[in-house]
Amino acid sequence: MLQEIYQPNPQYASTAAIKSMDEYHALMNKAKEDYEGFWGSYAKEKIDWFKPFDTVLNESEAPFYKWFEGGQLNVAHQCIDRHLATRKNKAAIIFEGDNGDQKILTYRELAYEVNRTANMFKNQFGITKGDRVVLYMPMIPEAAISMLACAKIGAIHSVVFGGFSAEALRDRIIDAQAKLVVTADGAYRKGNPYMLKPVVDEALSSGCECVKAVCVVERNGEEIHWEAGRDYAYNELVKNESSKCEAVPMESEDPLFLLYTSGSTGKPKGVQHSSAGYILWAQMTMEWVFDLKENDTYWCTADVGWITGHTYIVYGPLAAGATTIMFEGVPTFPDAGRCWKMVEEYQINQFYTAPTAIRLLHKTGEHEPKKYDLSSLRVLGTVGEPIDPAAWKWYYEEIGGGKCAIVDTYWQTETGGHMISPLPGATPIKPACATFPLPGIIAEVIDEEGHPTPVGEKGFMCITRPWPSMIRTIWGDPERFVKSYFGDCKKDGKPVYFTGDGAMVDEDNYITITGRTDDVINVSGHRMGTAEVEAAIKKHPNVAAVAVVGKPHPIKGEGIFAYIVLKAEDTLAEEIELIKEINNIIKKEIGAIALCDDIVFVPDLPKTRSGKIMRRILRSIVKNEEITQDTSTLEDPSIVGKIESIVKSCRL
Ligand code: WTA
Repeated sequence: MLQEIYQPNPQYASTAAIKSMDEYHALMNKAKEDYEGFWGSYAKEKIDWFKPFDTVLNESEAPFYKWFEGGQLNVAHQCIDRHLATRKNKAAIIFEGDNGDQKILTYRELAYEVNRTANMFKNQFGITKGDRVVLYMPMIPEAAISMLACAKIGAIHSVVFGGFSAEALRDRIIDAQAKLVVTADGAYRKGNPYMLKPVVDEALSSGCECVKAVCVVERNGEEIHWEAGRDYAYNELVKNESSKCEAVPMESEDPLFLLYTSGSTGKPKGVQHSSAGYILWAQMTMEWVFDLKENDTYWCTADVGWITGHTYIVYGPLAAGATTIMFEGVPTFPDAGRCWKMVEEYQINQFYTAPTAIRLLHKTGEHEPKKYDLSSLRVLGTVGEPIDPAAWKWYYEEIGGGKCAIVDTYWQTETGGHMISPLPGATPIKPACATFPLPGIIAEVIDEEGHPTPVGEKGFMCITRPWPSMIRTIWGDPERFVKSYFGDCKKDGKPVYFTGDGAMVDEDNYITITGRTDDVINVSGHRMGTAEVEAAIKKHPNVAAVAVVGKPHPIKGEGIFAYIVLKAEDTLAEEIELIKEINNIIKKEIGAIALCDDIVFVPDLPKTRSGKIMRRILRSIVKNEEITQDTSTLEDPSIVGKIESIVKSCRL
């Protein structure tokens, strides 16, 4: 662990949104003394309400909280229309294609595009308030435009990451009962076209009767199958629509979107977010954590298919009136200097990415940053997984030139926006440490009974008061919502939100996130449920049992490691074939992002006499750690040694 403390750069601190730790503590105290007053005054100040709200927080049906009841707003109006008076000619979205294509949309142009698209959804496809629209899109402006068009007419979007397979897409379409799917023919990646529309065709081949139409954006112009009466050309239809569209007034608690994410058990869950609370915190964190200024150019490298893309490419930046970059490509194409070239070219002020990308760019292009002028940068962000001190140091020194604030932002799909993060003008930073909860976020590291854990000891990362941008429910499964996040543990008689992460507090109250405490793995900053991967592997006819665990990986943070018990023993040649087949099933069921890094065939899994698989033992074996668990209660204690030697022989 690095022990240095990096003080905020005084040059930035003087103009930052929150200028000192005194200011931070004052805000935090205000929130603690008058929680509703704190949030109510920000909601009044930041949101352009169509109708003011009556109450700040309704806890009567906790944990189904309601924020800003009685209020009406429209998120697309908040993100676009309200800026037109002062920012109509300001760049809202700068698009850079994989192939270097560039397109700039001003706020006025974005307003027109969103309105045309909203009118098309309404007039051509009959989409109205509350309907679900699935977006299966590449990183092109039409993805953001479609999200905002849904918001404008009150439809609920569910963006599915373009790397998910047809099966995964189908599950999400059916669960949300989507009426419309918006997609593209495909896009470009590393200089080559890739396809999306065929995946939609396959997804819709069975069980998706709810889908009435598919609206296809042209991006790469490759040939695609066209189903008459179902498929429509976005670019053709949108041209005929009016660029005027009234924003539908939405209640504060009306859902804005669903986003499916992995949990420790079962299928991915549709995390449901609200309109007012979500957009309020998206905007506030954008201003606080990235210290946004009017003239800044901001770049988050995520994909809109993940929550980071929702909150910090589309909704947060636009609500705050910023200029946001959308990048279609990958950071290593045409070379590992691509990001730094873009920083120089667009004079980017805030750069936000995942530790995986930092490690990759460090490893594959250590000297690339030196070739570019990175002096415009002020704030560097990381998200999605713990960052290691070596990657942090490189980011700080080589990208930030030793002058930028590094904001290690801890949050989740369910939290809607940042929860724990340094503030660029205020927080003395300890490398690789998420530091403190943001003002208004009441977070604690506790044990199972709800007591704060002692300094230096691991506990559960929890949030003990509701916050405006929190998950409202799991789509169609309120019971699972309560069960997944709120244990029996209560604080002052109120439910406590469990993040599923472990954390530690040090002697200065700094919080370090130590990783998931459940069966979720974090591969390249992407959340993957072991249960989902196991369910896919079990589809192979020769698989009798399987357990999947995370394995430390030098670039990806964690890789996927599968222990498989076969029904019939195979020869080595057959096993190689089997591995291929199993990976093909995973690709088909989930997508290439869930491919296993390692598969080992074992005679059995360590099970208790009641049949429960002891995953902790399997995790320890993969990490080459000493096994501290009691193995005497296992059905067959000798299995542990056998598995250990198989894994060791694979390592050699
Ligand atoms: C992990 C991504 C350490 C964590 C925004 C969390 C982090 C999961 C950090 C959520 C961080 C996110 N340090 N771990 N700064 N940020 N995580 O839902 O395990 O895709 O629970 O949201 O990522 O992943 P999700």
